[in-house]
Parts: sequence; C-alpha cells; structure tokens
Amino acid sequence: MTKTVVMGITGSIAAYKACDIVSSLKKSGVDVHVILTAAGEKFITPLTLETLSGNPVITDMFNRETPWEVEHISLAKKADVFLIAPCSADIIGKMANGIADDMLSTTVMATAAPVVIAPAMNSAMYLNAFVQKNMNTLKEHGCIFIEPEEGLLACGDKGVGRLADTAVIKEKTLELLNPKNDLKGKKILVTAGPTVESIDPVRYITNRSSGKMGFAIAEAAQTRGADVTLITGPVSQKTPSGVNRIDIVSSAQLCAAVVENFKKADALIMAAAPADFTPETVYEEKLKKDGSCGLELKLVRTKDILKTVSPDKGERIIMGFAAETHDHEQNAVKKLNSKGLDFIALNDVSNKNIAFGSNNNAVTLYSKDGSCENSGVMSKGDVAHWLLDRLFAKQ
Ligand code: CTP
Repeated sequence: MTKTVVMGITGSIAAYKACDIVSSLKKSGVDVHVILTAAGEKFITPLTLETLSGNPVITDMFNRETPWEVEHISLAKKADVFLIAPCSADIIGKMANGIADDMLSTTVMATAAPVVIAPAMNSAMYLNAFVQKNMNTLKEHGCIFIEPEEGLLACGDKGVGRLADTAVIKEKTLELLNPKNDLKGKKILVTAGPTVESIDPVRYITNRSSGKMGFAIAEAAQTRGADVTLITGPVSQKTPSGVNRIDIVSSAQLCAAVVENFKKADALIMAAAPADFTPETVYEEKLKKDGSCGLELKLVRTKDILKTVSPDKGERIIMGFAAETHDHEQNAVKKLNSKGLDFIALNDVSNKNIAFGSNNNAVTLYSKDGSCENSGVMSKGDVAHWLLDRLFAKQ
C-alpha cells in the first residue's frame, strides 16, 4: 500500500534542499504532499515542488479553490509520517506552544502520525534558550528530531544549525514508514528509572535517573514487534503505547518484580538505577531534629538484582548498564563478568551532554565475547534501536 508523507517546508535557505528530499521520497514510492509556509515560498516555488511531488502544493489556508476546513484535517489524517524539513525556529515555537495560525501549524496540530522535525537555522538562533526549551518540549511529547549539523552556515557563521544530510532525513522517514518487525514474538523485560528508599514518612533517598533511556528502549522494542514489560521507578515519562507498565518504588520491590517477570522473558534489559543501599530502619513517624546534634543514618546493602537472576539465565539475553564517572572500561567489564551478563552498555555520567536527564546519550557496548563498540552521540531513541540491533543480531 502506498504510504503518505505530509511534508512541511518553512522559511530557511535550506528549503532548496527540501526539493531533493521530496524527489527521493517520491522515487521510493512515497506519496508526498507538501505544505509550503509563506516564508518558505520566498525561497522556493510551489511549481518546483508540485512538479517533483506530482501533487498540489498547499500554501494558503484560506485559498478559496480548495476547501481548507476539510483540507487541513484530511491531510493530517492522510499522513503516515509528518515531516518538517527544514523546520524554522518559528514553527518549532508555534508547535511547542499550541499555536495554529497557518496551514502548516494547523495541520501538524491535528495529526496523529509520527512527527519528524529537521531544524535548520543560524547557530545563535538554534542555541537560543527559548528555542532549546521549545525543542525539548516537543521531544518530551514524542516528536522525532533529526539534529542539524555543524559547519559553515549560509549566513557566513560557523556553528550548529545546518540542515541534516538530506539522505539521512529520507532514510529516517522511510524507516518510520516501514518499521522493522524483527522482534515479533520476543518477550522483553525492561527496567527504568530510579528507586526510592524511605527514611521516614516524609524523607527518602533516591538518585538522578530520569528513566528516559529505559523508556526509549521499551518504546523501540515495542515498535519492532516485541511484547514489552517495563518495570519503572517513579518518573515523569509517558508510557509508550502497547507497553505493559509495572510501577515500583523501592529496590526490593524492583527486585521482586524482575524475578517474577524474568521467568517468562526472552531478554532482560536493566536500565534502572536501583539503590545499592537502603536505610536499615524506616521510621514510622517523622524524625525530629531535637537538640543540636546531627543524624546518623545506618544504610544496609540491597540485593544486586542482576546477580540474583543471572544464574537462571538459560538462553535469555541479559544486558546491564554501567553508569561510571571514572575508570570507565575497567568498571564496565568487571560488571559484565561479575553480574553474568551478555552485554553491558557503558554510560559516562560525568559527560554533561549525555548525563542523567539528557535527551541524548552515547554508549560503549561490551559483550561477553570480548567485542566493544561505541555508538557516538545520538538521541536516546536512536541509541535504543542501536542497542537492540546488536543484542538481537544473531537471533
Ligand atoms: N543493578 C542491579 N542491582 C542493583 C544495582 C544495580 O541489578 N542493586 C544493575 C543496574 O540496573 C545496571 C547494572 O546493575 O544495569 C550496573 O549498575 P551500576 O549502578 O552502574 O553499578 P552497581 O552494580 O550498582 O555498582 P557501583 O554502584 O558500585 O558502580
């Protein structure tokens, strides 16, 4: 069945590169419908895009020749993927703030299709705090970003902001149109987020894990056909659709839930950051600060969850994460062996660009057969796919 891409083109000098994307998607058998913003029309003509796409190009929301009320909704519904390339700071701002005042912003607001955004703008604009905030809002709500490249920009500045390679944009779009189904039939257990260890009714010990990496893995595995169970500590991430979510609070609860669900799983991916220590005593009443002395809290070790389940591993694939600030490789390999894992993904948590809470990550994957490979910096969604490709390569 022919797939449809609705493609927004906005006011950026990179709009001329959009012609290449329209043409190559069309050659790959995709039905492309272009919405060109008023600013976009200053850079390229509707005629060029009509000729390349073979479809009318929509420029004006109030064009009397087409019934716009119906048109923006029908285009929104028709889209299998909604691509905006190049995407300006203006459209990013409108989308992130719920503004719909032209054909593109109105249509993208009404779509249920995956939204792919390839920004292109001057580097100072790209790095502007409001633009960054708007992009993060859109990422948190599931928009897929194809990050711009660094280099010489059309304005003469050097920096980040150049539209990503058009071949990359095309490939990503085709990938979303024809998702892999390679994990169909596999039951994958993923853990995510921190654990919370109570001290008394109002106080607790936790850590900085946001859960983003584990949620990204769960989502990626689910889109590839796997039956996914996600056990998570308290986080603010949205549950990916189709994923079976189990909420836990403490490290002991996480351990019990993993042991229970491990039995029926084909693979376990431990992206959670369970507490290694928990207070020996959980006070039933709030601790009071009587007098001037400090407070001594006795912490006891929790169970190592991976070590608890790995002796019953059988044919299952197990991957852990190693969050390290120093002696990275040495610590990761030690954990790979001592926890009985097939793979361990090393995270350098001292690197601010990819640390806790970031939307990006870079991992080095060590396997028990001695191989080692670095992913480079990517979105957590792309890292998730990169890891799944390697974990299940031989299956
Ligand atoms: N892990 C686990 N049980 C724990 C603690 C961690 O199964 N009680 C898992 C994590 O989910 C991760 C891997 O072990 O997949 C490594 O976690 P990490 O926090 O990096 O290492 P620790 O084993 O806790 O060792 P240390 O804190 O000393 O670095």
